[in-house]
Amino acid sequence: MSGVSGKVVAVTGASSGIGEAIARLLAERGAAVVLGARRTDRLDAVVRDIRERGGRAVACATDVTRRADLERLVARAVAEYGRLDVLVSNAGVGRIGPVADLDVDGWSEMIDVNVRGVLHGIAAALPVFRRQGRGHLVTTVSTSGLKIVPTQAVYAGTKNAVRTLLEGLRQESTDGVLRTTSISPGVVRTELLDSTGGAGEQVARMRELAIAPEAVARAVAFAVEQPDDVEIGDITVRPTAQG
Ligand SMILES: NC(=O)c1ccc[n+]([C@@H]2O[C@H](COP(=O)([O-])OP(=O)(O)OC[C@H]3O[C@@H](n4cnc5c(N)ncnc54)[C@H](OP(=O)(O)O)[C@@H]3O)[C@@H](O)[C@H]2O)c1
Repeated sequence: MSGVSGKVVAVTGASSGIGEAIARLLAERGAAVVLGARRTDRLDAVVRDIRERGGRAVACATDVTRRADLERLVARAVAEYGRLDVLVSNAGVGRIGPVADLDVDGWSEMIDVNVRGVLHGIAAALPVFRRQGRGHLVTTVSTSGLKIVPTQAVYAGTKNAVRTLLEGLRQESTDGVLRTTSISPGVVRTELLDSTGGAGEQVARMRELAIAPEAVARAVAFAVEQPDDVEIGDITVRPTAQG
């Protein structure tokens, strides 16, 4: 199976930013998409819009910190469209600041959403992929994990934990059933930039540099559209001017 059209794709964090852009682009290219996030009003609006454009989409309230929610998201894809071809574990939060600030609550939130959330997705999707004999895990990590900079140590740590996890899983899955892809975006123009808790100047500089979330969505589509025997392992998508 190759191409995006006809695939069933679940996307976490689909209520805004990169996840919303991924869901919209894949639906436009003929995938059936299942959108997960906590803000269901936002999900419903995106689903409505996709359907008005002739696409196939459903929303499913999902808090990735709860394992049962990911089970429900995957089950919804199977119930609605008969299977799940791709899980895009994209939900994430970014709290930036020096480690010495001891933002322990922010660290816990990042670990719960960015790491535990992805593990919950893997736990829910793997049995379905194995049953089907085919499946693809895509995650949104970050260039923060490729170039380590001050104020992003814990965020980068969570993203690199996921990068490591997917590489380990890849090496355990050489029977041809599972494909894994880690997408590393640089600075992207989304709501995440407003919620980092970072210094105003730093966030303003990031906003200036940022690229559109659609750029990341195109990278996801590229990984998804490959034939089953071709795995795109890592893609970095950053602003041309990012250092
Ligand atoms: N923007 C950047 O510069 C950038 C760069 C590199 C990587 N990334 C990564 O890209 C991903 C998407 O972020 P974004 O930039 O698109 O930011 P965003 O617009 O803030 O989107 C974050 C998404 O994650 C969801 N989310 C947060 N906590 C959740 C939870 N507990 N359960 C379910 N969903 C949850 C949010 O939905 P609800 O609040 O509705 O639940 C939202 O849909 C994240 O993993 C982020 O780390 C972003």
